[in-house]
Amino acid sequence: MATRFSIRTSGCQMNVHDTEKVANLLHHAGMNGAAEEADADLLILNTCSIREKAEHRLYSDLGTLRAWKAERAGRLIGVGGCVAQQEGDTILRRFPQVDFVFGTHNLRHVPALIDDAKAGRRRVETEENRSLERFDLPERHPALSHTTPGRAFLTVMEGCDMFCSFCIVPRTRGREISRPAQAILDEARHLVEHGVCEITLLGQTVNAYGRHDLRRGHSARAGTMPFHQLLAQLDAIPGLRRLRYTSPHPIFFDEGLIRAHGELESLCPHVHLPAQSGSDRILDAMRRRYTGDELRAIASALRGARPDLVVTTDLIVGFPGERDEDFADTLRLVQDIGFVDSYSFKYSARPGTRAPTLEDAVAPDRAQERLEALQALQRDLTIAYHRSRVGQDVEVLVEGWSRRGHQLSGRDPQHRIVNLEAPGEAGLEPGAFTWARVVEATPHSLLGEPLPPANLLGIASFR
Ligand code: 5AD
Ligand code: SF4
Repeated sequence: MATRFSIRTSGCQMNVHDTEKVANLLHHAGMNGAAEEADADLLILNTCSIREKAEHRLYSDLGTLRAWKAERAGRLIGVGGCVAQQEGDTILRRFPQVDFVFGTHNLRHVPALIDDAKAGRRRVETEENRSLERFDLPERHPALSHTTPGRAFLTVMEGCDMFCSFCIVPRTRGREISRPAQAILDEARHLVEHGVCEITLLGQTVNAYGRHDLRRGHSARAGTMPFHQLLAQLDAIPGLRRLRYTSPHPIFFDEGLIRAHGELESLCPHVHLPAQSGSDRILDAMRRRYTGDELRAIASALRGARPDLVVTTDLIVGFPGERDEDFADTLRLVQDIGFVDSYSFKYSARPGTRAPTLEDAVAPDRAQERLEALQALQRDLTIAYHRSRVGQDVEVLVEGWSRRGHQLSGRDPQHRIVNLEAPGEAGLEPGAFTWARVVEATPHSLLGEPLPPANLLGIASFR
């Protein structure tokens, strides 16, 4: 019988997309997805090492998975992702229950690693690869075409050369590499032909796309172009209704990209702008290469180009040397820009990065207090924004059933969650677009009443 696999994913959208890529490869190799881990013969853990907690999760998962493995002979466990890239064969040595380990540049090798594991050869494949080969992947297998109806991720660049002093990513994802625009456009067209209407472009510093080629005068040879031109070409694909990108780095918001937000119809009015801190002193120690005022200027330029645009962010509290006044600067930045949402984290020291060598570590209690103060401010800003939307009509791309199960849930162009009342009557399904009137604001979402399709409304009023 064909091998049944299951994949657990931690971390960012790049990891979520890597999981999709691995699942796709396994389908092409004749394997099937298992409905539950209890039915699976193969379990892959796609790991994250951005903070210590995420890394520890792998080790505790591996402990409990010994029992899963012992339940049935022949079961296999594979470990991939950022922890795998960093730890490599240490994982095989420390955990006899692990059968293979693959790094972030080695997704293509997973089927071969599984074959070897079945033959009793435990292997590690974590070689860093600077070629474009890793993007040479088969088209989406028919079995996976409806996993996220209507939406898809598309990798445009990978890796990071920024080396922010707190961040492990340049060590787990390697050097920046941008795909040729033609390959990106072909993939986008293929997705749209297969029912995708919203594409999220992915890259660790996605708006740095093609920058090294441009700087070296290699763009033509590499087939890359400035990011805003890539967006314009994608926007021209008929049937592509929504275009998003994540995560950009603030220093790569040039005029062209700002203007694109005012000009490209499919480009969604939402930018995730990772600020990290509002203190210039801390930003400098973080090696972020911008100031708080530069962030304010980017946010207002974006809103100048597209007034309904929403800005969200990532923030770190408790970075070494962060004093009360630095944290006050962060609160002020959050208030000034009016982030509609933020992911905030306590600084976590990552081995191999620069920040742990800095002096004046912040006491954990102090960091916790700051996190709570920041999150309280964010809650106020989020709910105020949500309230400002009540009474508006929004276009929602339906994603699936909400957690409570009696509502459909989707996203508006600003990437806010919209839960839809009485979706059954409106005949809506995941993957569909609908208009809805916002009737209520909650801290995490909007509540909408589906509106009849515009043309029917028109006919009704005509009569
Ligand atoms: N500690 C805490 N947060 C971190 N991030 C990245 N590295 C660390 C770290 N060492 C956060 C940043 C980044 C997000 C993905 O994770 O805010 O934008
Ligand atoms: Fe990490 Fe900075 Fe690169 Fe983002 S830009 S992945 S925070 S090193």
